[in-house]
Amino acid sequence: MFRLKTTILAVAAWTLLASAALCLSPDADPMNSAVLRELNVWERYGTLIFTGVMVLVLQTVLIVGLVISGYARVCANRALQASREEARQLSGRLLSAQEDERRRVAREMHDDLSQRLATSAVEAGMLEQRMADRPAEQKALGLLRQQLVDLSDDIHHLSRQLHPAILEDLGLAEALRTECESFARRERMAVDFRCRDLPDALPKDLGLCCYRIAQESLRNIVKHSQAAWAEVLLQADDEFLYLDIRDSGSGFEPEKAHARPGIGLASMQERARLVGGQLTIQSQVGAGTTIALRIPLVAAQE
Ligand SMILES: Nc1ncnc2c1ncn2[C@@H]1O[C@H](COP(=O)(O)OP(=O)(O)O)[C@@H](O)[C@H]1O
Ligand SMILES: [Mg+2]
Repeated sequence: MFRLKTTILAVAAWTLLASAALCLSPDADPMNSAVLRELNVWERYGTLIFTGVMVLVLQTVLIVGLVISGYARVCANRALQASREEARQLSGRLLSAQEDERRRVAREMHDDLSQRLATSAVEAGMLEQRMADRPAEQKALGLLRQQLVDLSDDIHHLSRQLHPAILEDLGLAEALRTECESFARRERMAVDFRCRDLPDALPKDLGLCCYRIAQESLRNIVKHSQAAWAEVLLQADDEFLYLDIRDSGSGFEPEKAHARPGIGLASMQERARLVGGQLTIQSQVGAGTTIALRIPLVAAQE
């Protein structure tokens, strides 16, 4: 009990002295006297200094960590952007290599295959006429001639799909008009083509971009939409060239279409991007689809 009291008294005395910034000097004889002295700086503020230094160290470590992770993020972003740019350039080169190859195959089909088939059809026709006294052979030759004519037409059509020479000869508006007309005939669908305020001359790559996007949109309409009609509108103002392809069909959810394996929509987007344009797909299940392309004319002329 006595010890406890002594301890409590000692602690109270120490606290009192500490609050007055004093302490017992070790030089004095503890049995006879108590000499007080002032606390030195370390004794007074040691805990505070220690805590401050620790906070400073922690802050420094934190800041260095943040700087390092920020730098790593910047490096990773730069690498990501570089690889995106590389992928874009590659897809641009792929599309233009594909166009070159299509042009070559189309020319060969048109100049060689289609011509040879047309010649064979003419020869079959001449033979057919000579068989006037043999009706069975004449009929067979007539059928053969017709098949050759159809084949030649199909190849001609395919070659035009592969590379539309008309685009270079007569320009975008006429090429699209012809494409819409032959599409409407072939697929027995009402296709309304309208064109207004087009500038006299359009850059070649713009024309090809619009033509390919219209072609793929029409192909998608017949393949996926069950639409009764479609509409193609080509127009321009001072700044932009606009191409809208609208159908009255089943529509779809564009966000989900990206998950499918087809590359039609993706290559349409890519073609638009390559000429600095923007392609928007507006579609809703049951409410038809509109593909809207907008290309800046000023950028294309620079
Ligand atoms: N006009 C449209 N009407 C309805 N669905 C469409 C239309 N255009 C595209 N789609 C949908 O978008 C998907 C992706 O089209 P696309 O990328 O051209 O690939 P693919 O035609 O080879 O399937 C199609 O499978 C179809 O479900
Ligand atoms: Mg498609």
